[in-house]
Amino acid sequence: MKKIAVLTSGGDSPGMNAAVRAVVRKGIYEGVEVHGVYQGYQGLVNDNIKKLELGDVGDIIQRGGTKLYSARCPEFIEPEVRKKAVENLQKRGIDSLVVIGGDGSYRGAQRLNEEGIKTMGVPGTIDNDINGTDYTIGFDTALNTIIDAVDRIRDTATSHERTFIVEVMGRDAGDLALWAGVAGGAETILIPESHSDIKEVAERIETGMKRGKKHSIIIVAEGVMTAAQCAVELRKYINIDTRESVLGHMQRGGKPTGSDRVLASRLGAYAVELLLNDVRGHAVGIENNRLTKTSFDRVFEESHRIDEGLFRLSKELSI
Ligand code: F6P
Repeated sequence: MKKIAVLTSGGDSPGMNAAVRAVVRKGIYEGVEVHGVYQGYQGLVNDNIKKLELGDVGDIIQRGGTKLYSARCPEFIEPEVRKKAVENLQKRGIDSLVVIGGDGSYRGAQRLNEEGIKTMGVPGTIDNDINGTDYTIGFDTALNTIIDAVDRIRDTATSHERTFIVEVMGRDAGDLALWAGVAGGAETILIPESHSDIKEVAERIETGMKRGKKHSIIIVAEGVMTAAQCAVELRKYINIDTRESVLGHMQRGGKPTGSDRVLASRLGAYAVELLLNDVRGHAVGIENNRLTKTSFDRVFEESHRIDEGLFRLSKELSI
């Protein structure tokens, strides 16, 4: 009987559980034995691997986090460390591995693919920064978490006529900041993909105040600067009372939205389907609502790009 394994790696994201469930259930549906690797690549090296049954993934589709746990494993860059991982899979007769995670996790999967294990990546990260897919699993949930926070912040910002600076995650990508800024009606959105002119931000705040605006919300992606740094920069040009809010890891938690659950289910099952058809060394994704696969080489070829049209729109709508 064919045997495959699944792991979650890197920063967790809401919907990872739904993806694990889809891998396990699609595998069993196709007559495959599915093994769960606990604690990501660390667990693969430490031989923390267990066969999963249908019931093991029951009651998890609605839960945030990952039942398989996640870890960052910098040592995985070392060939001897990966050799141990390959041995642990091969001694069980497992020849294929589904890796649910971000691009750091994909790099490990690419190496394993060259070293004898058939691998398939499933994009699981709140950052939405992976090439070969329009959306990553967890992005929609994190986005909605941020929007909810911004709505609340707006209430108190209005009452006190204050400028709030809200720092959001995203590592080097600005997708969370951009989408949350558009959906939350932020006056200013600062993203790493575009040069941030703080003097111009200050001028816009001033103009807004002159025409009677009661408050202002600035969303700053962590890849640009911290909210505290942003406040210091702003005060070089304008004398205003600001408050900073760092949303932090709450953005990674919570139950996945319907979109993330469906996306995770589709991508997890598709990953298994491809492996069973001898496709390897690829990552699955969704582009224009179609399931797609992209080789790891192509995923890494270009750096992530922001939706320029949406960024322009954000400026047009926040005049
Ligand atoms: O990649 C997901 C992410 O949440 C990033 O947005 C953030 O920069 C990073 O992980 C935080 O990592 P850690 O949980 O290790 O602090």
